[in-house]
Amino acid sequence: MVKLLGLLCATALVGLPQDSDLAARGKYLVEEACRCQECHTPKTETGELDTSKWLKGATLDFQPMHEVKGWHKTSPDLTSAGRLFARWGEAGIEKFLETGVGPSGHAADPPMPAYKLHADDAKAIVAYFKSLK
Ligand code: HEC
Repeated sequence: MVKLLGLLCATALVGLPQDSDLAARGKYLVEEACRCQECHTPKTETGELDTSKWLKGATLDFQPMHEVKGWHKTSPDLTSAGRLFARWGEAGIEKFLETGVGPSGHAADPPMPAYKLHADDAKAIVAYFKSLK
């Protein structure tokens, strides 16, 4: 019996870090590889990223030198508390990151890049967004 409990405990312990490992990988992909925060986090008056509104959506502080059709001046909240998460769901956001196309069948407006990430990476990114409120 004691042995069995020990085994269950070990399984539970292995289960937990896996989730946070996934979110940690997502954080790395978002913050270091893709740098989503450059457009999805507002800046303070002194021009630094406002860490109190991390990935909560922003008005961009740059624009193209010549006209770009469909240019979007704002970016949405990417955290699990945001409207996008409620509208698209985890699967919708994952699919978008894999294909560059949202659930409505459209690509996002510029300057949002059309990422075509591996499913594992898209999953990790969504796990990270889930950890943000
Ligand atoms: C160069 C600026 C920029 C970067 C970098 C960027 N985004 Fe965006 N993103 C935008 C803008 C602007 C929009 C709004 C476009 C629209 O509504 O069509 C947007 C929209 C989105 C949307 C909603 C798309 C839609 O069609 O409504 C998602 C999801 C998203 N971004 C996720 C991400 C993720 C995840 C990353 C990093 C992996 C990222 N973005 C990096 C600028 C950016």
